[in-house]
Amino acid sequence: MKSLKWLVLSIISAVLVVAPVAMAADVQEDQKAILVTGASSGIGLKVTQDLAAAGHFVYAGARKEKDLKALNEIPNVQSIRLDVTVQSEIDAAVAIVTAEGRGLYGLVNNAGVAIVGPMMDVSDDDFHFQMNVNVYGPFRVTKAFAPLIVASQGRITTIGSIAGTVSPAGLGPYCMSKHAMEAFTDALAAEMEPQGVVVNIVEPGNYKSKISASAFNRMVTEKVAAGVELTEAQKAMQDRGSNDRSQFKDPDEVSDAVMLALFDENSKLRYMVVPNQGEAAFTIGKAVQELVQLNEDQPYSYDREGLIKLLDEAMNPVTE
Ligand SMILES: NC(=O)c1ccc[n+]([C@@H]2O[C@H](COP(=O)([O-])OP(=O)(O)OC[C@H]3O[C@@H](n4cnc5c(N)ncnc54)[C@H](OP(=O)(O)O)[C@@H]3O)[C@@H](O)[C@H]2O)c1
Repeated sequence: MKSLKWLVLSIISAVLVVAPVAMAADVQEDQKAILVTGASSGIGLKVTQDLAAAGHFVYAGARKEKDLKALNEIPNVQSIRLDVTVQSEIDAAVAIVTAEGRGLYGLVNNAGVAIVGPMMDVSDDDFHFQMNVNVYGPFRVTKAFAPLIVASQGRITTIGSIAGTVSPAGLGPYCMSKHAMEAFTDALAAEMEPQGVVVNIVEPGNYKSKISASAFNRMVTEKVAAGVELTEAQKAMQDRGSNDRSQFKDPDEVSDAVMLALFDENSKLRYMVVPNQGEAAFTIGKAVQELVQLNEDQPYSYDREGLIKLLDEAMNPVTE
């Protein structure tokens, strides 16, 4: 009787002890390490939260002490000081991730800023700032972390924008930076594929974040404080006031697309994610217009049937 009780107790305790270990092993096995740049707010924060909640380990890049601290409070998240314009911080981040020994499966190039205003009014300084963060930033970070990603046959996902396709008046510098990320993705995807790395881009429309408030800060508040004379466009911006983007949806569906970009077996090269039909029509319409403009009035133009055939083939690619 005593030995039966002992047997039951030992089975129960074995289950109690082994079950969590087995569960932890499952999580450990599936857990991927992913670096998200610009994780302090908006899309980057949401992606960080979703990855961590799914059991992955997130290296969350941020710049301010309070953001680094707040990110560290999220289970499965380790914040890393990372300004994408500062090479020494990028190098230090590579050293930290390497020393941690988890490898790096994923990189989400999310950090970004927006410079707005007519092209001919934009100062060299603002233009450089735009390109430094949105173009040189992902280039530098990707280059630095590529060996780790290749070693784990991982993925590189960049947060582009519908501004990588459309380019309305007054948004030129931002749109230039996001068009650059389209080219970056196409070239890198082709180059990395033979090395077993998937590269793709998520192209959101308008979602809630701090990006417009930060733009207002740089284009109005900081210039006024520095005594710089505002351009007409900046004065108009000043009159409209800072935009907190609270009228837009939370970026949940953008984060969902990032999850697919990072983990789906049949992942796509481009994930356009827009909150309404209008933004989809605007973007797809622009892409079609550009196709027509490229094609028209040149010696090798396709006729209508030829274009439709191309479209059909693109929609139903032959897979070997
Ligand atoms: N929200 C949208 O509707 C939308 C649409 C299309 C594309 N996007 C793209 O989504 C990405 C995230 O933007 P968001 O809308 O979520 O804006 P956000 O809330 O302003 O987030 C931008 C993030 O980038 C970081 N950042 C800025 N400069 C940086 C630098 N030099 N180094 C490292 N991090 C830096 C910010 O950090 P700090 O807090 O330290 O400044 C912040 O964490 C951007 O690439 C943006 O272009 C957004």
